[in-house]
Amino acid sequence: MTELNQAAISAEIAELHAAYDRKRAAGMPPLDSPQIDFPPYRSSVLRHPTKNPKLVDPETIELASPAFGHRDVAAVESDLTMQHAGEPLGERMTVSGRVLDGEGRPVRGQLVEIWQANASGRYIHQRDQHPAPLDPNFTGAGRCITGDDGTYSFTTIKPGAYPWKNHLNAWRPAHIHFSLFGSAFTQRLVTQMYFPGDPLFPLDPIYQSIPDQAARDRLIANYEHDLSKPEWSLGYRWDIVLTGPRATWIEPEGSDA
Ligand SMILES: [Fe+2]
Repeated sequence: MTELNQAAISAEIAELHAAYDRKRAAGMPPLDSPQIDFPPYRSSVLRHPTKNPKLVDPETIELASPAFGHRDVAAVESDLTMQHAGEPLGERMTVSGRVLDGEGRPVRGQLVEIWQANASGRYIHQRDQHPAPLDPNFTGAGRCITGDDGTYSFTTIKPGAYPWKNHLNAWRPAHIHFSLFGSAFTQRLVTQMYFPGDPLFPLDPIYQSIPDQAARDRLIANYEHDLSKPEWSLGYRWDIVLTGPRATWIEPEGSDA
């Protein structure tokens, strides 16, 4: 089998985006949900559901599924640089923002979980065996609860870009995975936050599976100097909007890259 190179993938992305732009020009409203089948992101074609969602009684399912809200999360769990005996390597940063509803109202008391690669772009995961070093002082997972004004905040290390096997020479732009739990597992939302100015954006089929440029831009954090702490960390701000026309793009179930 001939392995596809980046040029072939980029051409597929350009073709799909041009088709989307033509439909928009012809009057189609912007897409407000993820495309679960985006062929340049190869595995999306194989693993998305092929049948309509099965509706379940949410109250019944919540009796048996994991739920959240009974135990507090310790404040220290939002600092990914304090989980081991030593300091992790890399660029220390603070990521903060607000979880908002479509009307701009804060969503308080929400469990926000993150996971990410280390500064070298390596995950502690059996499936990640590429030759970048693990960091014995960095696990790459943290969580916190939003405050009364919807604010979340993490201290962590800027993750590195990493290769994946979608096609030859495929690299993911640096990103942090975010999960919002809702009030039960059945409401969980998952998305990714990116960093401004990443040269890999045009090449990444996951980022580009969002056809709308404005929606793609909403996944990119802003560098905010007032959030940076002198002699300590760089500050990035990223708000998560759950509903409405400015909603943060949420991944279809089953995405894991
Ligand atoms: Fe990732």
